[in-house]
Amino acid sequence: MSKKVRFSPDLMLPAIGQGTWYMGEKADLRQQEVAALQEGLECGLTVIDTAEMYADGGAEKVVGEALQGRRDRAWLVSKFYPWHAGSDEAIEACERSLKRLQTDYLDLYLLHWRGNIPLEETISAMEKLQQQGKIRRWGVSNFDLGDMQELWQEQGGNACAANQVLYHLASRGIEFDLLPACEARHLPVMAYCPLAQAGRLRHDLMSHPELHAMAQQQGISVAQLLLAWVIRRPGVMAIPKASSIKHVQENAAALTITLNDEQLTIMDRLFPPPQSKQPLDVV
Ligand SMILES: NC(=O)c1ccc[n+]([C@@H]2O[C@H](COP(=O)([O-])OP(=O)(O)OC[C@H]3O[C@@H](n4cnc5c(N)ncnc54)[C@H](OP(=O)(O)O)[C@@H]3O)[C@@H](O)[C@H]2O)c1
Repeated sequence: MSKKVRFSPDLMLPAIGQGTWYMGEKADLRQQEVAALQEGLECGLTVIDTAEMYADGGAEKVVGEALQGRRDRAWLVSKFYPWHAGSDEAIEACERSLKRLQTDYLDLYLLHWRGNIPLEETISAMEKLQQQGKIRRWGVSNFDLGDMQELWQEQGGNACAANQVLYHLASRGIEFDLLPACEARHLPVMAYCPLAQAGRLRHDLMSHPELHAMAQQQGISVAQLLLAWVIRRPGVMAIPKASSIKHVQENAAALTITLNDEQLTIMDRLFPPPQSKQPLDVV
């Protein structure tokens, strides 16, 4: 069965989406990146995650090109800089993103990380964008539990639709407190760097001998093992970035992989879950 994450009672999304960080940086890779994103859509990876930051808007342009004639098949996420989180700046940043993406709405708009602008100002800008039909939902990224608690206390803060944070087998800090708190509120967590290619706890998991052996035994790749692990919890979506068709197809196939208790126990032994509060890992 293909795994899904519940965003609201009437919205279930595939538990694996597509990241775009580093796309749009090199002109000679552009067609390959467009083709990879389009293949992802074909394979059911309908959530596409981008940001105004990536390649300084270049990644959004690649996504815009990939979505030509296909916009209605994608669930599109972008993010704005913390210094664009004020009332007018957030509206203007969103309009610039929409232009680069060649669309008139985002399905989800995220504050990329927390800055100095009061949360209430950002919430009111998000509400305005929703009223204008420019975004369907809004959320946050790189918010630890304390930030989420502050947000939930703000008027309108409960409307936050997702928190996007770093999460992979070698960086499990959120399991201690943030993830259970989000799960208790049915707030989806979007796991970035699910293949552990970045972050403070960056790890070369792809060449880990025991993970390799486990994957081989099941006839899957280590990347698929890692993705299946990230989405083993029902409220977590993984957003791997892949610019090769082979990787995209492999990642999509991970939607139907379930790990058994024995495999999960081995992975816990290799990369133990946190026993205390950990600083939020970020890139
Ligand atoms: N909110 C935030 O602050 C934040 C921060 C970082 C990232 N993100 C988002 O999360 C996304 C994912 O994170 P990420 O791009 O840093 O790291 P990632 O998805 O963990 O790793 C991406 C790397 O893994 C490779 N890869 C993908 N699928 C593979 C497969 N099946 N087998 C082997 N290698 C594979 C890709 O290669 P190819 O490209 O060659 O296929 C790429 O080099 C980003 O693209 C971005 O959208 C958000």
